Amino acid sequence: MSAFTAVDVIRAKRDGGVLTDAQIDWVVDAYTRGLVADEQMSALAMAILLRGMSAPEIARWTAAMIASGERLDLSTVARPTVDKHSTGGVGDKITLPLTPLVAACGGAVPQLSGRGLGHTGGTLDKLESIPGWRAALTNDEFLRQLGEVGAVICAAGEALAPADRKLYALRDVTGTVEAIPLIASSIMSKKIAEGTGALVLDVKVGSGAFMKSTEDARELARTMVELGGTHGVRTVALLTDMSTPLGLAVGNAVEVTESVEVLAGGGPADVVELTLALAREMLDAAGLPDADPEAALRDGRAMDAWRTMIRAQGGDPDAPLPTAHEVEVVHADADGFVASIDAYAIGVAAWRLGAGRARKEDPVSFPAGVVLRKRPGDPVRAGEPLFELRAEHAGRIPAARDEAAGAVRISPSAPAAKPLVIERIG
Ligand code: URA
Repeated sequence: MSAFTAVDVIRAKRDGGVLTDAQIDWVVDAYTRGLVADEQMSALAMAILLRGMSAPEIARWTAAMIASGERLDLSTVARPTVDKHSTGGVGDKITLPLTPLVAACGGAVPQLSGRGLGHTGGTLDKLESIPGWRAALTNDEFLRQLGEVGAVICAAGEALAPADRKLYALRDVTGTVEAIPLIASSIMSKKIAEGTGALVLDVKVGSGAFMKSTEDARELARTMVELGGTHGVRTVALLTDMSTPLGLAVGNAVEVTESVEVLAGGGPADVVELTLALAREMLDAAGLPDADPEAALRDGRAMDAWRTMIRAQGGDPDAPLPTAHEVEVVHADADGFVASIDAYAIGVAAWRLGAGRARKEDPVSFPAGVVLRKRPGDPVRAGEPLFELRAEHAGRIPAARDEAAGAVRISPSAPAAKPLVIERIG
């Protein structure tokens, strides 16, 4: 007989109480083992969403999720380990240039990534557009590559925080994803279990992000930074703007192409700015403050690390990437300046074109996506191209066109420039 019942734990939180360590340990473990039913965990997740959790409750909940699976030991890796996590956005391909860049500067980046769901893309989906590249590595392959190359981007194994995998799927279908204690513990349990020594969080704010307001993003960032500290992982967070897509490319293969441009020393200014800002934070957190990521981009060391990283996972960095058969160009209907480009609308349009998935079992289209031809602040004339919709099948275009209609706002005068990095928490 267990000392607890799920109903007592649900009632305690429903009535605004603070769960004890023993209650948290029990309910997370029992849910992972199937002893607490989905409907009971759904009720508890909703009670947490409505009532919140104290800092000690969140720390214990996170520890229980870590304890539900294995915790990787990276102590055999000679270089300092440091990872980055983004809360997800539109056109957010930063992991692709950032991981080899930090490796080229002396860090080891153990990037265990996921696939996209809904309007935000997934790093693994993007990389899988490279012929031959494989996301699944054994723990031994992962450790070997991390030690030898300093850069690994691969799928998180089933054994890492299994409580989170089960709970996240449940939250997705019960309207409980938005609870800050649950988001923070979900992200941090996976990152802490992965074994990284330091972590930089890119917490996105704006229409294309989970967090629509700076206040919510700040609370999430503070909660995660504190959790990192409690668990011995040096953690800092940047709040960054996600009201506009990052860069010009939104999709899979198109984002790989843009990332390679950044690694070649070019690419859109905002992608370069954020890549460098996060690289500096990661190198500082890893105890490598004298490394010069700008030089590593300029002199080709980051590109060399990229090519080695892609080859190590079976990919051919020189192979042509898939291209779309169907391309529709959307034109400006007025003269003026691009005032804003709505990240959410562009993200949904890319998803409708096939770049993203509605259910986690769905395949993605590698060449599909949106390619912007203008950025906020650019002058524009009526009839000039604003963006391209790319798809494998023409039938995908009309729904994407509807979603993207109105995403680009044109005004008679130039808009004020918005900072990309809004705040640093750490
Ligand atoms: N990403 C995660 O990994 N978990 C959440 O709860 C939300 C975003």
